[in-house]
Amino acid sequence: MNNIIEFEKVSKSFGDLKVLDQLSLEVKDGEKLALIGPSGSGKTTILRILMTLETIDDGFVSVNNEYLWHEKKEGKVVNASDNHLQKMRDQIGMVFQQFNLFPHLTAIENVQEPQILIKKKNKSEAHDKASELFNMIGLNDKVDHYPHQLSGGQQQRVAIARALAMDPKIMLFDEVTSALDPELVDEVLQVLHKLASSSDTTMLTVTHEMNFAKDFADRVLFFDNGQIVESGKPSDIFTNPKEERTRSFLKKFITDIN
Ligand SMILES: Nc1ncnc2c1ncn2[C@@H]1O[C@H](COP(=O)(O)OP(=O)(O)OP(=O)(O)O)[C@@H](O)[C@H]1O
Ligand SMILES: [Mg+2]
Repeated sequence: MNNIIEFEKVSKSFGDLKVLDQLSLEVKDGEKLALIGPSGSGKTTILRILMTLETIDDGFVSVNNEYLWHEKKEGKVVNASDNHLQKMRDQIGMVFQQFNLFPHLTAIENVQEPQILIKKKNKSEAHDKASELFNMIGLNDKVDHYPHQLSGGQQQRVAIARALAMDPKIMLFDEVTSALDPELVDEVLQVLHKLASSSDTTMLTVTHEMNFAKDFADRVLFFDNGQIVESGKPSDIFTNPKEERTRSFLKKFITDIN
């Protein structure tokens, strides 16, 4: 299976703070990856770099065998142009912690409009795709509600549908349940779980929900101090982590760890 994402020795600092330190990471096409690690360890930064919201200082990032932050011009590797970044970004969808639906559009319009504006679909095509996605997220009865008329969990499900409507090759989820009231967390995780088991899309999710990560992910990656400390199958990482740092991190979430 091909790698759809590659980080080659990528470094990134904010001022004096080195957030990524020669990070190398490969993600296979279709893989479902869970990123876990302490607060401030750089998980969001990795996703933001992929979304082209954050630049890199050093190294190379590739998406679908093409450089993201660079491009080849006349045999030379140069910094990416805005056009290139836009083209690459269109392959990737992201859902953030904070629901960021357009408040003046209904739920279904939130899912239709980007398809019309960016994918240049006509209204009926966009509507068909949106209806299919509302079915998947279980919100057929709320299509005409405005965001303020939806619960946080419902808004987050619409945000997921909106990102999926663009047919991204890669979906990034950054702690999509952490701003939700506890009783709303499950409905969103169930949608993600359903998606993960039924779709070929490559998915990277940052999460503090270890039970969810266990079910969702093909591979779990524990990240700390700008580097990958350990990566492996959920059944290995969660029951028998090799590294002491992983173990002490997981102990905060899982009581019966070795
Ligand atoms: N734009 C920025 N300017 C300055 N510092 C930043 C910026 N973005 C992130 N940082 C810092 O970089 C570090 C990594 O941040 P990041 O958001 O990637 O961590 P995280 O692993 O997602 O943490 P959390 O689990 O709390 O979300 C943090 O110390 C953060 O304060
Ligand atoms: Mg974060």
